[in-house]
Amino acid sequence: AKLLLLHGPNLNLLGTREPEVYGRTTLAEIDADLAARAQAAGHVLEALQSNAEHVLVERVQAARDDGTAFVLINPAAFTHTSVALRDALAAVALPFIEIHLSNPHAREPFRQHSYFSDLAVGVICGFGADSYRYALDAALKRLPA
Ligand code: DQA
Repeated sequence: AKLLLLHGPNLNLLGTREPEVYGRTTLAEIDADLAARAQAAGHVLEALQSNAEHVLVERVQAARDDGTAFVLINPAAFTHTSVALRDALAAVALPFIEIHLSNPHAREPFRQHSYFSDLAVGVICGFGADSYRYALDAALKRLPA
């Protein structure tokens, strides 16, 4: 099956961005790791990062017709702001897992609301780059071969 991995704004800076919060693993490393793990399990994973809300909205919309079976998404700051991206996921009605490197619940109050969590299959947060691995494992268990 086909999985879509989406990353929101500023995650292109992973590795050097507030490493005490987000770790030192780069986005390229995360994408390569997940693609390899998906492939080893007989699936295909495509990754996209954007700082632009409309690019992510349009990619989610396209997922309705491109064979995507499951979405993994770290909406980053859009977690706390984007009704548009939430609505796109609701529109395509694909199962998704919400991912965060940090644990937003242990941070500032404005990070404690997510526009995504109530629609998500589940939420994985607080494990750094490992959050992505755990999310992939959970998705793989829910995919048809
Ligand atoms: C984040 C948490 C968000 O609050 C923040 O805006 C991010 C990254 C995380 O992965 O921990 O950009 O989604």
